[in-house]
Amino acid sequence: MISYTEQMNYFGNTNPDALAEKYGTPLYVYNENILRRQMKRVAGVLPNHRFTANFSIKTNSNLTILKMALEEGLNADAMSPGEIYVLKKAGFPSDRIFYVPNNVSEEEMQYAIDEGVMTSLDSLSQIEMYGRLCPGGRISVRLNPGVGAGHHEKVVTAGKKTKFGVAAQDIAKIQEVAKKYDLHIVGLNQHIGSLFMDYKNYLEAVHNFLHYAEDFDELEFLDFGGGYGTPYHKLEGEAEFDIESFKTELDALLTEWKEKSGKDVLFKMEPGRYVVAEGGVILGRVHAVKENYGHKYVGTDVGMNVLIRPAMYDSWHDVEIYRDGKPVLDGETGEYTVVGNICESGDIIAKDREIVAPKEKDIVVVLDAGAYGFSMCSNYNNRLRPAEVLIKSNGEDVLIRSRDTFEDLVRHFDV
Ligand code: LLP
Repeated sequence: MISYTEQMNYFGNTNPDALAEKYGTPLYVYNENILRRQMKRVAGVLPNHRFTANFSIKTNSNLTILKMALEEGLNADAMSPGEIYVLKKAGFPSDRIFYVPNNVSEEEMQYAIDEGVMTSLDSLSQIEMYGRLCPGGRISVRLNPGVGAGHHEKVVTAGKKTKFGVAAQDIAKIQEVAKKYDLHIVGLNQHIGSLFMDYKNYLEAVHNFLHYAEDFDELEFLDFGGGYGTPYHKLEGEAEFDIESFKTELDALLTEWKEKSGKDVLFKMEPGRYVVAEGGVILGRVHAVKENYGHKYVGTDVGMNVLIRPAMYDSWHDVEIYRDGKPVLDGETGEYTVVGNICESGDIIAKDREIVAPKEKDIVVVLDAGAYGFSMCSNYNNRLRPAEVLIKSNGEDVLIRSRDTFEDLVRHFDV
């Protein structure tokens, strides 16, 4: 057995036991070297074109991580007024934020208009709404090209069966509504889905999208969306997303299109998971080991409120066991299901895993939890959302978000 975290020197000058002792568990632990490595990779996807990468902050909106993204030259995309607000707090200027909402109210639309943030509209109704609020405005339109992709039905965001985007066949209607309010369609965007390791579908989608772009005269940018994958099965040797080949093929496709169409626009992409997933893990404490009718369970404090992905999408997260500061790699193994402390039988983090027999007080390390981890946490069962710690490039650990407190649980009640 191998330990990814040991190979990466993930915990710098410290170790999971020391971190658990110092900050308590469950605990999100990020690694600055890995985060910055990924940020640099996405910032450099199209070096031969005018290009910006928008970090999709629904994956992770910790202010320290957002400031890092800003320093690494990333722009950001926001899904809600709250995300715009948080980005502003992190220091992102309005012109580095792209608002890509869905079904927002007039107030939520007006918020972006007042903040001077470019907005993507994803239905004819919302284009109408924008036109009423801001006639003559500059907008982007989210097209649904009719094909989608993703790791689970719930994360496919284009195609014939999803709520997102305006159907590409409605382009004439889009232009009609825009004309009615003198709106300038300066951008087109799409996002076909989340988590692909093979980029062929994505390139195919970009290819189709470029074709639609030719119907718009005032275009200043094209945004192809996010979705680059993370190798969640890395302990079994799953390869990384091949970003170098992706870059080469995308570059060729775009160069050819620019020559043919004579258009010179800014290209954008919106990766989220790829930027932060691998730079985040969760530490949990083993509080019980038991066998129920022949099935072995490891009872930890990493409940589904801390990481919902396995319960929501049957997602796989690799797990490692640490004892006395070191990964446990040798010894008798068995098939264990790692579970949390929430009152649901679906409260499962890792099902039927062949791991070295864990003991009470061991630390479970859940890998690849930096994306859609903390950002999807809840207080279900009145559990406290965890603290977040960063292992800095110099190996030191620093608290970057405090754990919730009991007072937080009653903060909104008049008691
Ligand atoms: N842009 C738009 C418009 C999106 O809707 C999304 C994700 C992204 C960019 C970023 O996609 P990424 O590069 O992270 O794949 N909670 C699910 C994923 C939901 C994705 C929603 N949209 C999960 O944990 O797998």
